[in-house]
Amino acid sequence: MPDDPKAILRSRKLSDNETSYATDTTTDKTSKVPLLAVEHLVKNFGPVRAVDDVSLELYEGEVLGLVGDNGAGKSTFLSLLTGYYHADSGTFRYRGKPVAHTSPATSRRALKIEMIYQHLDLAPDLTVWQNLFLAEEKRKFKIVLDKRYMIRRATEVLAELASKIKPDDLVGALSGGEQQVVAIARALLFERDIILMDEPTAAISLNKVRDVLDLILKLRSMGKSVILVSHRLEDVLEVSDRIAILNRGTISHVLTNNHQMTITELAQLMFEGTIQHAVSVAGNGKLAEGSD
Ligand SMILES: Nc1ncnc2c1ncn2[C@@H]1O[C@H](COP(=O)(O)OP(=O)(O)O)[C@@H](O)[C@H]1O
Ligand SMILES: [Mg+2]
Repeated sequence: MPDDPKAILRSRKLSDNETSYATDTTTDKTSKVPLLAVEHLVKNFGPVRAVDDVSLELYEGEVLGLVGDNGAGKSTFLSLLTGYYHADSGTFRYRGKPVAHTSPATSRRALKIEMIYQHLDLAPDLTVWQNLFLAEEKRKFKIVLDKRYMIRRATEVLAELASKIKPDDLVGALSGGEQQVVAIARALLFERDIILMDEPTAAISLNKVRDVLDLILKLRSMGKSVILVSHRLEDVLEVSDRIAILNRGTISHVLTNNHQMTITELAQLMFEGTIQHAVSVAGNGKLAEGSD
């Protein structure tokens, strides 16, 4: 398995609003069908258009960074993918096939999406294996809990993630980073293809950030796709194959990451729209000469 991010960097045809920051020109324009494609997603909260005509593709085995200012619509966008919110309009395709996307159950089963929440949805006083199978327990003859099977699968999936966590460990005794491993192991266990992470490094200690980034790269090497929302641009630049910038509900750029862009450059692209907007507001309101 290649561990070098550049080794797995997918090269392919760029969409209209996509800018290439790639330096190598091995772009063979692979026209692969995206694992997930959303088109023209819109979500309003009353007068606020939180997600404004967003079209985006996610490919198999890629990490897509999603960045933007506070209130740009990142979390709302993820909630449309998980089915927590219902889009006012827009379409979803999974491996090219349209999916009528209506609920969290559809998201899990038809789009194979699993969200890793910042405040992890785990039961602290249950063991790791019990958490892994929570509400999706395996039973023998539909009656008796198949504990042996569940512990065996838990052991296997933790080993896949190269984790030292044991199936019998109590989840409450694990660190924040280790709890994320459990949440991700759950996603693998039920064969989700797409893992969404909203600020996964915000609630954990700094020295565990490395573990989470390694976990993301590990998931990619297993062929999973990840959408990483983070305000830690250095993390996004390190692990993403592509980076999408949301600006007031709209995708302003989709970049192919060449691992040479700096945090400053990315931040400039992120805020460029906002700054122009602020200038134009100030210009209209205060600086325009000769008007009222
Ligand atoms: N449940 C809600 N009700 C009303 N407005 C909301 C709700 N959730 C988000 N918003 C608004 O939608 C916009 C996008 O928010 P959000 O998706 O949380 O942005 P981000 O995650 O990028 O910080 C913001 O203006 C926010 O105030
Ligand atoms: Mg958010």
